[in-house]
Amino acid sequence: MALKALDLFCRAGGASMGLKQAGFDVIGVDRIYSKNYPFQKIVGDAFEVLTWLDLGMFDFIWASPPCQQFSKATPSARRAMHDDLIEPTRAALEASGKSYCMENVECAPLRPDVVLTGDMFGLNTYRKRIFEVNFPVLAPAPGPRFGPETRPGSVTVAGGGGGSAGTFSAWCDAMGIHWMNRREIVQAVPPAYARFIADWAKNAIDDRAEMLLAHGQAEKMAGQARILPSE
Ligand SMILES: C[S@@+](CC[C@H](N)C(=O)[O-])C[C@H]1O[C@@H](n2cnc3c(N)ncnc32)[C@H](O)[C@@H]1O
Repeated sequence: MALKALDLFCRAGGASMGLKQAGFDVIGVDRIYSKNYPFQKIVGDAFEVLTWLDLGMFDFIWASPPCQQFSKATPSARRAMHDDLIEPTRAALEASGKSYCMENVECAPLRPDVVLTGDMFGLNTYRKRIFEVNFPVLAPAPGPRFGPETRPGSVTVAGGGGGSAGTFSAWCDAMGIHWMNRREIVQAVPPAYARFIADWAKNAIDDRAEMLLAHGQAEKMAGQARILPSE
């Protein structure tokens, strides 16, 4: 049976797609409906959904809370207008007892356990993102440095698109995302990032299952053990 992942703040499913590629069945949660989201989705406030959703059915939880408050793309005068959902999201993830990953932009107040950039996956966009996880992840080796000489035609997937920022089709190719509109893709995690982290999550889930099995066997053996009379 396939492992199950919950993708909180899933939007149109950049991270969800990476989880699917890693072999998870995915259910997303977002307060905005998107006809482009490719998997099953619960539309509603994530914190309200977490009050009734049975987390026992999931093996892994991914969360991409909104980043506008911390993003360089948001004018500084407007940053305080956006909610900071990172602390409550972290509290919910920790309380779940599940393997989890929280993702955000580099200035966000996350523990940067993993830092990923597009060169590590051969993507034509730099798109630095940081990840807080509760399982071991060994980061991939960096690729060639980004710059006009080494990566001609590389794009920053942000803002309105077009012109010097590259065409929409160049954005889609660079991100590995061909099912979203412009407003969705600028918020997305490249699926390659989520797939990479989800593969490590699977190792952690397997290790934990083996540990529980061994623990169960040890308990059973302890129950069967008898104290032998001394000679
Ligand atoms: C950065 S986007 C997520 C992008 C997504 N991970 C991807 O890879 O495509 C953040 C999302 O959080 C959603 N959001 C913000 N506050 C929310 C809340 N309280 N409950 C549910 N979704 C929320 C927004 O609608 C937005 O779609």
